[in-house]
Amino acid sequence: MTLPQTIPLFKGRRILLGITGSIAAYKAADLASKLTQAGAQVEVLLSEAAQKFISPLTFQSVTGRRAYTDKDLWSTEAHILHVGLAEYADLLIIAPATANTLAKIAHGQADSLITITALAAKCPMLVAPAMDANMFEQPVTQSNIETLIGRGVAIVGPVEGRMASGQIGLGRFIEPDELLGHIRLALGRHGPLEGLRVIVTAAGTQEPIDSVRSIANSSSGKQGYALAQAAIDRGAEVTLISGVSHLSPPIGAEVISLRTAAEMQQAVLEHVEKTDVLLMAAAVADFRPIKVHVEKLKKSKGIPDIKLEPTEDILGLVAQKQEANGWPRLSVGFAAESENLVDNARAKLEEKNLSLIVANDISLPDAGFEVDTNRVTLIDSEGGVQELPLMSKVEVSEVVLQRVIQLLETLE
Ligand code: CTP
Repeated sequence: MTLPQTIPLFKGRRILLGITGSIAAYKAADLASKLTQAGAQVEVLLSEAAQKFISPLTFQSVTGRRAYTDKDLWSTEAHILHVGLAEYADLLIIAPATANTLAKIAHGQADSLITITALAAKCPMLVAPAMDANMFEQPVTQSNIETLIGRGVAIVGPVEGRMASGQIGLGRFIEPDELLGHIRLALGRHGPLEGLRVIVTAAGTQEPIDSVRSIANSSSGKQGYALAQAAIDRGAEVTLISGVSHLSPPIGAEVISLRTAAEMQQAVLEHVEKTDVLLMAAAVADFRPIKVHVEKLKKSKGIPDIKLEPTEDILGLVAQKQEANGWPRLSVGFAAESENLVDNARAKLEEKNLSLIVANDISLPDAGFEVDTNRVTLIDSEGGVQELPLMSKVEVSEVVLQRVIQLLETLE
């Protein structure tokens, strides 16, 4: 199944992408393509030097729109392009940005389409530098960067690594996937959850048996990480409390990585104060070995007798806190069920004092652990039951966050 890649945050948003003369310019084609696929209207501006590395046609092909160059500045449309490109933009990105362009925009020079647009733009600006490490480390470049940061420009990268010159150091263009995360952070900043704190728990916990073995579950963290990203897209301040997962956390989340249910319990209870929303998507172990063997258990000693004890129910403890001091304002639970989905989930909703529970049928092959899709039913504390069709976990996150925003409105 091909999953749709549109991201609601990008739908109908107008993004200007300025590309300057660096060998990393070819990576900007990937970025332009990803932004377009996400649903953004991408207008590309190429500097003279950028065109030595990559052609406007490449960008026209991936964005389906015209890519502008300095020649257009002297065409019959000049009066429109001069400041018009910046007028309705939601975000101006300059990526890659050379040391020369950084210097120009830091000092308000306007001698090319990109620098004119940067000077005219009132929208947020994000700049991703790429240059040789020596140029990047120069005090003059650093001071230009400080100037831009001081004006509210987001500087993303560069990163350490090998540059085209063979030099290894700080100057490499940030990878487009990571840059996309920063773009989401910048675009979502003033969303409906701006100023609100959201905790998301994700992935499975592991309960050690001995120094190398543990009781684990197969939760990948996909649903929880997608929820964290969806909350960031809406401007929330997100803390992602994650069990064991190989996924890269969304840019902008404060990440707390841990292993056991007890550690997750401590982290959630420590952070839940002053938190508006708790999204408890983690697959927390219900039982743990009473005794953890320090050394690796030897086969020669025979089959071990592993005695288990229950872990604490974290949502249950959160419900007690909520009753005592009102935080979090809203808790959302997730129920993995293999039978009697709605009844079992509703019982958990009541028991754990939740505003909403997202129930999924883990007996189906396209829902639940590890896979990219989920088939969920949303049950709220007012008795509402909404059965959703098969969706990607990203889409499920979008729906859950929309519901969370509606529920927050009812609390105001
Ligand atoms: N949960 C929790 N603490 C635990 C176990 C689960 O806070 N020790 C949370 C999960 O993160 C989830 C919700 O409770 O949001 C329901 O989890 P689930 O495993 O479906 O239910 P359990 O309460 O563990 O009951 P059971 O496993 O018997 O179905």
